Amino acid sequence: MALKRTKIVDIFNPELIGEKVCVKGWVRTRRGNKNVQFVALNDGSTIKNIQIVIDLEKFSDEELKPITTGASLHVEGQLVASQGKGQTCEIQAESIEIYGTADPQTYPLQKKGHTLEFLREIAHLRPRTNTFGAVLRIRHNLAFAIHKFFNEKGFFYLNTPLITASDCEGAGAMFQVSTLDMDNPPRNEDGSIDYTQDFFGKQTSLTVSGQLEGELGATALGAIYTFGPTFRAENSNTPRHLAEFWMIEPEVAFNDITDNMDLAEEFIKYCIGYALENCKDDIEFLAQMYDKNLVERLEFVLHNKFIRLPYTEAIKILENSGQKFEFPVSWGIDLQSEHERYLVEKHFEKPVILTDYPKEIKAFYMKLNDDGKTVRAMDVLFPQIGEIIGGSEREADYDKLLARIEELHIPMKDMWWYLDTRRFGTVPHSGFGLGFERLVLFVTGMTNIRDVIPFPRTPKNAEF
Ligand code: 4AD
Ligand code: MG
Repeated sequence: MALKRTKIVDIFNPELIGEKVCVKGWVRTRRGNKNVQFVALNDGSTIKNIQIVIDLEKFSDEELKPITTGASLHVEGQLVASQGKGQTCEIQAESIEIYGTADPQTYPLQKKGHTLEFLREIAHLRPRTNTFGAVLRIRHNLAFAIHKFFNEKGFFYLNTPLITASDCEGAGAMFQVSTLDMDNPPRNEDGSIDYTQDFFGKQTSLTVSGQLEGELGATALGAIYTFGPTFRAENSNTPRHLAEFWMIEPEVAFNDITDNMDLAEEFIKYCIGYALENCKDDIEFLAQMYDKNLVERLEFVLHNKFIRLPYTEAIKILENSGQKFEFPVSWGIDLQSEHERYLVEKHFEKPVILTDYPKEIKAFYMKLNDDGKTVRAMDVLFPQIGEIIGGSEREADYDKLLARIEELHIPMKDMWWYLDTRRFGTVPHSGFGLGFERLVLFVTGMTNIRDVIPFPRTPKNAEF
């Protein structure tokens, strides 16, 4: 009977020493002399490689020739305690099957130390590097932590549609979805495109947020969360924006803005704590490679209470900072990343939750405060990242919400179903959206959002 494969993550187990084992994976390096060769094999299950020791009395040069970086192997042999430093055990090869070769002349991942920019150009192969293996394993663990957190709290996972006829954030930066002939679309008499003939009988786009449907779920199930892809066609080529990103949006009936802040803080700390506990090797690798303070920064966020501060107070701090900002500060401005980072990294040196923003710079659905000027918004600002979460208490009053929709000229034909939540058994409720890649950025210490999603979608970039 064929020997069962052991994943490399499970091979560093003292109980297996002396056993015959089978491993499969890709060659990271091969070195050695004319008596013995050493192959570092990785199968993606862990950052660690297993060392394969090849005695040249048992294998010919001809047999070993195709074993170059990137080749895929099936190795069987005895697991023995290792003399070499940096590893506890290694495999004395008895048989080696080569699944696939990787021509050293053309395989792009020959040497170590490629720049992240270069690796973006070979996004189809970069998961095979240590860095991207670590990032993608951490990403998986964070996704799992998110489901675990909400499940333990009794939230229900609600799948909201990706194709939508409404624009939740009112940002107007949506990707259209259509099956009309782009070269010759049907037209109305006034020359505009006749969307009644389109697939859905109306103009549709990819969603910028699942929140509106999330509110329908929350006012039925009590507490829900969404976790899905989100699309924004804004042309912002920054290290923190993607055109396709993943967002987690909890929405909770009967929660006010304070409950919402408590939930956001507990949630994000839970995710960071989970990663520290379950992704130790990968986080340590990234810390060593890119960011010596990574673990310290994660622990710091975990163990410190976030500052909570109204927007108006933040403006005063920025005005009195004596700091020269590229975008000048005054009450009413939308905060830029430089302002957010000043507050978090220089002034407080802690994550900050800013609340009560001017209504003009926030979405229509946020609850109006008694001052008539500000809304019960909350943005969570993080060191290195800036805004990681955006949310609010929602306007639960039908008349006030309708007034806001009319003020902003949002077409009512798109909104009647949303307004029904306020017509039938309306309740105070709150929610927020966490940008998943921004969380992964923070936890991995990477600095460009293109490096924390397997296949980034950014302006002019959808190759892989
Ligand atoms: O602040 P935003 O736009 O809020 C909403 O969409 C609300 N409907 C959420 C809610 O209350 N349910 O987006 C939420 C978060 C931001 O804080 C940011 O972390 C992330 O989504 N985000 C992006 N991440 C990557 N690329 C982009 N282009 C992003 N735009 C927003
Ligand atoms: Mg926002």
